[in-house]
Amino acid sequence: MPAEPVLEVKGLMSSYGATPILTGVDLSIGEGEIVALVGRNGVGKSTTMRCLIGLLRASGGTIHYRGQDVTRMSADERARLGIGYIPQGRDVFPRMTVEENLQVGELIGGGRQRSRMDLVFQYFPILKERRKQVAGTMSGGQQQQLAIGRVLVGGPALILLDEPSEGVQPSIVQLICRVLRSIRDDLNTTILFVEQNLDTILSLAERGYVMEKGRVVARLEPRDVSQEGVRRHLLL
Ligand SMILES: Nc1ncnc2c1ncn2[C@@H]1O[C@H](COP(=O)(O)OP(=O)(O)O)[C@@H](O)[C@H]1O
Ligand SMILES: [Mg+2]
Repeated sequence: MPAEPVLEVKGLMSSYGATPILTGVDLSIGEGEIVALVGRNGVGKSTTMRCLIGLLRASGGTIHYRGQDVTRMSADERARLGIGYIPQGRDVFPRMTVEENLQVGELIGGGRQRSRMDLVFQYFPILKERRKQVAGTMSGGQQQQLAIGRVLVGGPALILLDEPSEGVQPSIVQLICRVLRSIRDDLNTTILFVEQNLDTILSLAERGYVMEKGRVVARLEPRDVSQEGVRRHLLL
């Protein structure tokens, strides 16, 4: 029997006020997979991520995490179960130092394991170098590494990452993609990421899902993770 999916989403619906945004998102992700959620601006990718972590209520459909129905759980509960979320725009605490940001991450993760701060410093040495620096004064790429590090200290089994390339210079995007791949290889962490940048999708994704107007409309199989395959779906 195939292993139970880490994340299984069926018919997910959500709205902002009276405006329906998600009208049926379906996806399923196995342990240790790296999967992209792609689609043009405004199709509901970030809205999907907010529903998955529990910052936005689902008005229909279900979300199962490792077989457990988490559809109605709070974001805190989901974080404690091992789901880490990095929002679009990163949202590090700008007035806190790198180290203080990471300490907050440890608290959010529920302190289930001994501190992983050293592990984070191994993956992102710049954070160790800058640990006393106030986060708001760092570059976009450094803040993105910090945002990922802040989730990583909680020891997540599933990372939800929204547009890691946004506002990050290309060489650092490539570094972040390499590190995310090592994290998966070393820790078997499952990763679902939203992305519009073709190079980032190609460097990181093993397969993907394509959204249009609030729904998943296609799957990107491993063979579709190519310039032509992704372009066809993104630039129709
Ligand atoms: N806080 C909000 N309130 C109302 N509408 C929103 C809000 N955030 C996003 N939207 C709308 O929901 C739709 C989907 O947005 P979003 O999920 O951010 O798209 P994507 O991440 O794919 O670019 C868009 O039409 C957007 O204008
Ligand atoms: Mg978005």
